[in-house]
Amino acid sequence: MIYESFSQEDTWKLGYKLGQQAKEGEIYCLCGDLGAGKTVFTKGFAQGLEITDHITSPTFTIVNEYQGRLPLYHFDVYRIASVEEMEDTGYEEYFFGKGVSLVEWAELIKELMPQEALWIQIERDFSQGDDYRRITVSSDKEGECI
Ligand SMILES: Nc1ncnc2c1ncn2[C@@H]1O[C@H](COP(=O)(O)OP(=O)(O)O)[C@@H](O)[C@H]1O
Ligand SMILES: [Mg+2]
Repeated sequence: MIYESFSQEDTWKLGYKLGQQAKEGEIYCLCGDLGAGKTVFTKGFAQGLEITDHITSPTFTIVNEYQGRLPLYHFDVYRIASVEEMEDTGYEEYFFGKGVSLVEWAELIKELMPQEALWIQIERDFSQGDDYRRITVSSDKEGECI
């Protein structure tokens, strides 16, 4: 599925819609460069899950947990240097837990992501302007975010 976003609000709304539909145990993998809009998407997603807390980027803590209609486990693995470091976060407890996991920079730990995860790739195309983003949603980890 391919979506076109022309503003931060468009990306936020797509996140919101998917957050409203999210189910227990699902894993959302976000990929795209710095500034692509992963955190904007996540903020919409969190609100779609009825989370009222302010979402901050878990860059140093790796994972933040929020409570909404379901728990949200928000990972940002940009600074993860090794699989061992990821294992230290106890990520499997989250991935196979009662909440919804969302992982920014999931392409960096692709081999750890379960087969059933959903992949959301956010790409710029400067020929379409600074605020344009192409957002591809796919259930195939081999197909996206290479
Ligand atoms: N269509 C768009 N979708 C998302 N963000 C956009 C869009 N157009 C411009 N932006 C801007 O790009 C930046 C995205 O930042 P952020 O979500 O933190 O990126 P990431 O988490 O991928 O590093 C924000 O400053 C936002 O205002
Ligand atoms: Mg981010």
